[in-house]
Amino acid sequence: DKKINIAIDGPAAAGKSTISRRVAEKLGYIYIDTGAMYRAVTLLYIEKGKDIIDSLEDVEITFKRGDGNRVLLNQRDVTEEIRSEAVTSKVSEISSFESVRNYLVSMQQKLGQERGVVMDGRDIGTTVLPEAELKIFMQASPRVRAARRLIEEKDRGSDIDIEQLTAQIIKRDELDMNREISPLVKAEDAVLLDTTEMTIDEAENFILEIAQNKM
Ligand code: C5P
Repeated sequence: DKKINIAIDGPAAAGKSTISRRVAEKLGYIYIDTGAMYRAVTLLYIEKGKDIIDSLEDVEITFKRGDGNRVLLNQRDVTEEIRSEAVTSKVSEISSFESVRNYLVSMQQKLGQERGVVMDGRDIGTTVLPEAELKIFMQASPRVRAARRLIEEKDRGSDIDIEQLTAQIIKRDELDMNREISPLVKAEDAVLLDTTEMTIDEAENFILEIAQNKM
């Protein structure tokens, strides 16, 4: 089989990372969570202030495979911290900055150069990997997305409720869809996948089946 790239975009909490990770595992591909990269820069911004936006060359973001896919920011493990409320409520603002996008997009393009990558985010099919052999635009109703995210939040010991989560998700989508540079939008050639009434297995198999046909 020839190796392909798979781009998976969509709004917050549509199931992108769970399903992307599983598809990558099945194919023996590398999974790249671009949201984690924007979150890591946001964490640094919160800690160090706005000057970091102009000195991003010093910012190193790497992924450590195995052991649940750890995210390292300048060698420091920030896997849990980047999911915090503080980061989540600020990430859409920070990811709208041109310098941040330029820096991370070029890093992501390098990661996709060799093919054999499943990458998820908001602008992968449109901007990062416009030549990806398979593009999926994954969506689900806001209610279902909030309900799924609530389970994750509870697991992490957060006491956020469903109303707060729904509001947070809707606000983040709005910012992501309306920003000037590479907003969240379905690429013309992306396949629409609505997971509202699907199990994880069903969504995974849907993508794997199309992927096999492209290899
Ligand atoms: O995927 P996740 O929800 O972790 O992404 C967090 C935020 O990072 C998004 O709400 C969006 O503002 C930003 N993002 C982006 N472009 C990407 C991936 C994420 O702007 N490719």
